Amino acid sequence: MTVGLARARSSLHFVRIAQYRRLYSTRPPSLTLLGKEYPTDSTTNITDAIADKVGRNLYTDPAHPLGILHVLVSSHFHDFRSHVGLPPVVTPAQNFDDLGFPPDHPGRAPTDSYYLNRDAMLRTHTSAHEVETFARGERRWLLAADVYRRDEIDASHYPVFHQMEGARVFGADEAGRAEVEADNARLEHHLARSNIVIEDVPHISATNPRQEAHDPVMAELVAKNLKLSLNSLMLTLFGDRGGVNEGEPLRVRWIEAFFPFTTPSYEVEVFFRGKWLEILGCGVVQQRTLDRARVPDSISWAFGLGLERIAMILFSIPDIRLFWSQDPRFVSQFTAGQISTFKPYSKYPACYKDVSFWLPGSGLHDNDFCDLVRDTVGDLVQDVVLIDYFTHPKTNRRSKCYRINYCSMDRSLSNEEANAVHTQVIANLKDKFGVEIR
Ligand code: PHE
Repeated sequence: MTVGLARARSSLHFVRIAQYRRLYSTRPPSLTLLGKEYPTDSTTNITDAIADKVGRNLYTDPAHPLGILHVLVSSHFHDFRSHVGLPPVVTPAQNFDDLGFPPDHPGRAPTDSYYLNRDAMLRTHTSAHEVETFARGERRWLLAADVYRRDEIDASHYPVFHQMEGARVFGADEAGRAEVEADNARLEHHLARSNIVIEDVPHISATNPRQEAHDPVMAELVAKNLKLSLNSLMLTLFGDRGGVNEGEPLRVRWIEAFFPFTTPSYEVEVFFRGKWLEILGCGVVQQRTLDRARVPDSISWAFGLGLERIAMILFSIPDIRLFWSQDPRFVSQFTAGQISTFKPYSKYPACYKDVSFWLPGSGLHDNDFCDLVRDTVGDLVQDVVLIDYFTHPKTNRRSKCYRINYCSMDRSLSNEEANAVHTQVIANLKDKFGVEIR
């Protein structure tokens, strides 16, 4: 009995040392990002492939599709103060706690977000800057930034993308009410003369309530102002775009939504080229945010929209990796201030390779697998699909099989080259996660 225990202990010890070696060999004591040093810890999961993207600021290039779209949104809200270039490293408090995310929200997990260490992360949304921007006393503001989320790999998901956030603050008094009423009248007049059909939901309902602190009339007026402002933005982005809607009205649909930092909350969808597309999330800002920013006696709305999805539609860009391409055949197609249709220069053949393995006891999250592939082969990976997952009935060991599609955006990949990168993926997989290849 004693002997048995001792043996069990020593094999456990062995496992721990093996894990420690793996962690130790892949995790330096500190890392440097944008000239700042961060001590690492067990939450550190940012990869080199991601760190390489930090600071590229694609949206600030006026001739890049993301930059063209950024300018279009900013000029629509021309009397809003526009912010760019905010550093992407924030605290989990800025990204989550200050906005009312519950402690067990899945977005906080290291499988979903990139951490430099437990106190510093890459923002997952531009809302992470709401408190500091409101705190500057700005009453109409826009903010564009790169945001980071760990995710699957396919044509429309990339771990770095771009968002714009916008907000407008009104005084919670007679003057504020007069201001919002005047602006609503102006916007209603503009929309009434435009070719737009709106499917609406009530501004406020039992399932999408106003806040206790808000005067009921003012809450309605501000929610209405949010909707009118964004309907007008949808017209700028999608309305009568060079015959795309062929004289048909633009259809916009409002849906009740939930965000921890707004109520009431909504999502906006637009019917474009035969499909309903989800465009943005928005709502009336939780009073807690304005309190934290020390903006008294006010009521505000805010929205956040993803630039890639809209740019893919407007410019007909088929693969999200293309935004990062420096190939002249991509970049030379776009001109500042113009929405044009991208002409694919070629399609290179897909090259599928499978990898099957037994999972380590601690398991392996799909996002960990995807980051390892991206970190090993960069943008040569087009998509990754889990094609098999089972537990062995006798041994209880779990097995996964992923199919990786290697395909360059810029050139044809030889089978030897695909084999070479795939071999490297397998080597890194064994090395980093201790899997057993089948
Ligand atoms: N930050 C939210 C997201 O990334 C969008 C949002 C912004 C919602 C502002 C409401 C208000 O999904």
